[in-house]
Amino acid sequence: MTEPEWQDMLLFNLSATPVTEVRRIKCKKYSVYVNHWDALLQDIEQMRPSSVFVLTDQQTAKFCLHRFLEKISIPVHVITIAEGEIHKQLDTCQQIWSFLMKKGADRKSLMINLGGGVVGDMGGFCAATFMRGISFIQMPTTLLSQVDASVGGKLGIDFLGFKNMVGVVQAPHAVYIMTEFLSSLPEREMRSGYAEMLKHGLIADATVWHRLSRQMPADAAAWGREVVASVEIKKKITDEDPQERGIRKILNFGHTIGHALESRWLISPQPLLHGEAVAIGLITEAFVSYRLGGLTEDELFEIRERILSIYGHHPRYVGGSDEIIELIRSDKKNINGQTRMVLLSGIGQAIYNQVADDQLVREALMFYREKL
Ligand SMILES: NC(=O)c1ccc[n+]([C@@H]2O[C@H](COP(=O)([O-])OP(=O)(O)OC[C@H]3O[C@@H](n4cnc5c(N)ncnc54)[C@H](O)[C@@H]3O)[C@@H](O)[C@H]2O)c1
Ligand SMILES: [Zn+2]
Repeated sequence: MTEPEWQDMLLFNLSATPVTEVRRIKCKKYSVYVNHWDALLQDIEQMRPSSVFVLTDQQTAKFCLHRFLEKISIPVHVITIAEGEIHKQLDTCQQIWSFLMKKGADRKSLMINLGGGVVGDMGGFCAATFMRGISFIQMPTTLLSQVDASVGGKLGIDFLGFKNMVGVVQAPHAVYIMTEFLSSLPEREMRSGYAEMLKHGLIADATVWHRLSRQMPADAAAWGREVVASVEIKKKITDEDPQERGIRKILNFGHTIGHALESRWLISPQPLLHGEAVAIGLITEAFVSYRLGGLTEDELFEIRERILSIYGHHPRYVGGSDEIIELIRSDKKNINGQTRMVLLSGIGQAIYNQVADDQLVREALMFYREKL
């Protein structure tokens, strides 16, 4: 039997009901507003910026910018960059900084990053470094950036082929999440972002895991509620440890193996999206958790079955375990050449800095591949 393609598997229904979830989530240094256009208008009025720059990529310029401009009737300079991770790099920063200078940006200018994690990470980085830092607002437009990338202040770009190699941790002025932007997002991107929401449940809130893993939200109102629940989890962890000295590491659950798979298939005809790789990472690292961390066998099988029911089973991506293990060895989180992983000690509880040896990783990949 041939494996299903990632994009064929599920249907979302985002447009059926109106958005109802309007919320303010207070973080230590800034607030995350959900579906709160009025607050954005007031915020900009109070800031009295000397000029406003809106950073978009080609897709968000097409799908999101007009909605933004309809609501915010102030003059703005729009900067549009090419879409995709390959453009999250220094050349594009130079284009952005040059544009800011050409249009006379000064220390009182405001930058609004309207896009997914690429626009948010890079636009935030450009703003945080331009003239030693101008204010910026994150307006994430993908599910992944709404529940994950826009919260926690990590900003940066890829360098010499290494992800997020150059960057800073800097709080935005505020984050404005408008879940209506998700209506134009391709299903495959939605599912990719959903993996981070599942991860949030697995590491910190069993109720969220049970709800999300049984059924995806059925309408726009339910999506709004679940985005809020997920942001609350990320906010709690990043508020406690903004610099990732300790507890913030648990957000990397599923990412040791997940990142290796993402890199392994990056330059191939069928690359994995980040969340797709993380979904496989969640299953395989749950296996390691069962062997080392205290996760029970029932919990392990529940995690595998529920994630497979959402993402399908893609054994070809975990073939060639030597290459995958080699990539895991170069993971930034490793200490003294030992693979360090986040493990679950139960559903909703995680522990970090755990040592996992190559043989166990091999068995974990086999657990996914063979569905033993
Ligand atoms: N800073 C953090 O803490 C953090 C956390 C997780 C991920 N990230 C970063 O986030 C990036 C991935 O983010 P992403 O998945 O949002 O990728 P992305 O920004 O590349 O967006 C994915 C695709 O969706 C398009 N798009 C965006 N919004 C859309 C909309 N509303 N409708 C239609 N198309 C739309 C984009 O143009 C792009 O083609 C990576 O660079 C990753 O390193 C950062
Ligand atoms: Zn991730």
